[in-house]
Amino acid sequence: MAEYFILNTGARIPSVGLGTSQAEPGVVEQAIYAAVKAGYRHIDCAPAYHNEKEIGLALKKIFEDGVVKREELFITSKLWCGNQAPEDVPEGIDATLKDLQLDYLDLFLIHSPVRSKKGATPNPENFLPLDIPATWGAMEKLYNSGKARAIGVSNFSCKKMEDLLAIAHVLPAVNQVESHPIWQQMKLRELCQSKGVHLSAYSPLGKARSPGFEGPTVLRNPIVVSIAEKLEKTPAQVALRWGLQMGQSVLPKSTNEARMKENLNIFYWSIPDDLMAQFSEIQQVKMLRAEFVVHPQGIYKSVEDFWDGEI
Ligand SMILES: NC(=O)c1ccc[n+]([C@@H]2O[C@H](COP(=O)([O-])OP(=O)(O)OC[C@H]3O[C@@H](n4cnc5c(N)ncnc54)[C@H](OP(=O)(O)O)[C@@H]3O)[C@@H](O)[C@H]2O)c1
Repeated sequence: MAEYFILNTGARIPSVGLGTSQAEPGVVEQAIYAAVKAGYRHIDCAPAYHNEKEIGLALKKIFEDGVVKREELFITSKLWCGNQAPEDVPEGIDATLKDLQLDYLDLFLIHSPVRSKKGATPNPENFLPLDIPATWGAMEKLYNSGKARAIGVSNFSCKKMEDLLAIAHVLPAVNQVESHPIWQQMKLRELCQSKGVHLSAYSPLGKARSPGFEGPTVLRNPIVVSIAEKLEKTPAQVALRWGLQMGQSVLPKSTNEARMKENLNIFYWSIPDDLMAQFSEIQQVKMLRAEFVVHPQGIYKSVEDFWDGEI
């Protein structure tokens, strides 16, 4: 298993990226520095995580100290829903580049198929109808300008992927979605793989979940735990390794140095076929259902609506 996958742009995306959602300012700067020193080469960012400035400070120090060069890192960020109007897309990436202190991103994603009024709180009453062809057209311009070396989407269902593929001049390189042993995304992964779109797994340890819904945790799942015991690995390592063997990159978040190292230590061993087969017995439950985008008078009237019934 290589330490990277090849995107449809020809670029390499490191198989393990560091998630940064809920990595608090004050902690995240040191965590990013430690992660890169430990061997992480991919950082998954977003303005919605409110910590890109601190990540930028860490990156600056990493380059100044000669830990790695810019070209050795793969930095992902995302277009926030208030910047989806085509004329606002350049402003979205420029703000992120300024905060991260970079002059290009390796991957820029439409964060979600949700569009809100510019500058407004992203509540359903501030949502606007989507115009993905127009937003994607502006993303393609960023790709052509070199500011985003690859472009893609996040939280896109099979239906939304197919609609996008039908109009795209530049194919999306990545769809970043929830994926772990308890929400495996078999149909979406198959579609993406058949179209040359790489699937990148967020919440690969099953963290993200809807408010008030604790859900079954991946790390306590009896099948994951029993496979981990057999292989003398941790449940987190097994969940992440499962992702790699399914052909997806994984984006575990940690600000704890020991857990960061643990999550990176998933190469040079594998889950054998007989144990891989056991994952198909795990009952599937989506953790991040996204109730917060639903409103009876809004664009999405139900969770099923948002995910196009693929839930
Ligand atoms: N595109 C999107 O809409 C979207 C949505 C959600 C997430 N994401 C991305 O995906 C990343 C990961 O998702 P996530 O943050 O929801 O959750 P996750 O990576 O599934 O889980 C993170 C949680 O697990 C803990 N953890 C990490 N390694 C562990 C280990 N080896 N053993 C036990 N616990 C461990 C972390 O705590 P410690 O920090 O204390 O270790 C944290 O509480 C995000 O940070 C973000 O970059 C994207």
